[in-house]
Amino acid sequence: MRVLVIGGTGFLGSHLVPKLLARGHEVSVMTRRETELSAIQAKGAIGIIGDLLNPRAILETLPAHDAAVSIAMPLEFGRMSNKQFRLVTERTTIFASSALAVGKKLECPLLLSLGTSYRTGPGEVADETWPIARFGLTKAGEEAERLIREAADDGQSIIQMIPGQIYGAGGQFLEMYRMLKSGRFGVVGKGDNRIPRVHVEDCAEAFALAVDKLPTGESFIVADDTPCTTREFTEFMAECANMSRPRTIPKLLARLIIGKLLVETMELDCVVSNEKAKKALGWELKFPSYREGLVAAIRAIESKAL
Ligand SMILES: NC(=O)c1ccc[n+]([C@@H]2O[C@H](COP(=O)([O-])OP(=O)(O)OC[C@H]3O[C@@H](n4cnc5c(N)ncnc54)[C@H](OP(=O)(O)O)[C@@H]3O)[C@@H](O)[C@H]2O)c1
Repeated sequence: MRVLVIGGTGFLGSHLVPKLLARGHEVSVMTRRETELSAIQAKGAIGIIGDLLNPRAILETLPAHDAAVSIAMPLEFGRMSNKQFRLVTERTTIFASSALAVGKKLECPLLLSLGTSYRTGPGEVADETWPIARFGLTKAGEEAERLIREAADDGQSIIQMIPGQIYGAGGQFLEMYRMLKSGRFGVVGKGDNRIPRVHVEDCAEAFALAVDKLPTGESFIVADDTPCTTREFTEFMAECANMSRPRTIPKLLARLIIGKLLVETMELDCVVSNEKAKKALGWELKFPSYREGLVAAIRAIESKAL
């Protein structure tokens, strides 16, 4: 198939594109940066210049594809002020509407990436039938979610991928690692909340399987088998990085440093089921738990001296 990957130069994208190429697909990677084109070509993919914030320019020139994947990120790592949040909300909505327009123009299935955010009580496990809980930063996706639902109801071919927090040698996890190494990282509050997580390689595999099968109209939670608390994850991350136990940061102080919205987002507490992705896509995890995954992720960061 000819597969378009919007966000193919990013953290997840840099793992997904080689997987798609290895499966024999012809892959186009959309980037805003001319400087990325030679690296994309060196991987065996085709570079296409495009910016989701300027969909008209994309739609005018886009060649035919059999599937499109949108994994661009409208958000950068760091403090989130109310002004930045408004910008992220606006961008999230434009990213969704532009990606939907791309899928419509190409008349092909479109894979979109959301995030796992549910509110589960004691003993409860969320699956894809649960409504996304919108609080903190996830509120930015409210309108985007409405647009996606509307497009799906109108008959557009959409597959929704719902990853947990993605970790590995890159992306926001790499920023967390750097903060840990410089002594600026800690656990906010008790850290007894559970955030679903997935190693980037497993996440990319689930997306690649979804491209192979194109189960339109479906959504898939992409998270590992092992719920863990924020404190367990962070402490084991520090252990793998040969650092001392991360300190506890009081919530009030964290609010001042990174902003109220990010603190609220970090308080996500849910347990999710990945059974549907395993059954329907034949997804097998290389890293079923953060314990194997973190060892591999930290080793990869340190061996590459990132
Ligand atoms: N990371 C996580 O923990 C996590 C968790 C749940 C869901 N997700 C979702 O998974 C997807 C991948 O996440 P990630 O961590 O791999 O993101 P990332 O590394 O931050 O992705 C950055 C990518 O977005 C592209 N991009 C940014 N602005 C763009 C624009 N205006 N037009 C076109 N492309 C643009 C960049 O392309 P260029 O710079 O080359 O133009 C780059 O390829 C995202 O949709 C994210 O929302 C991530």
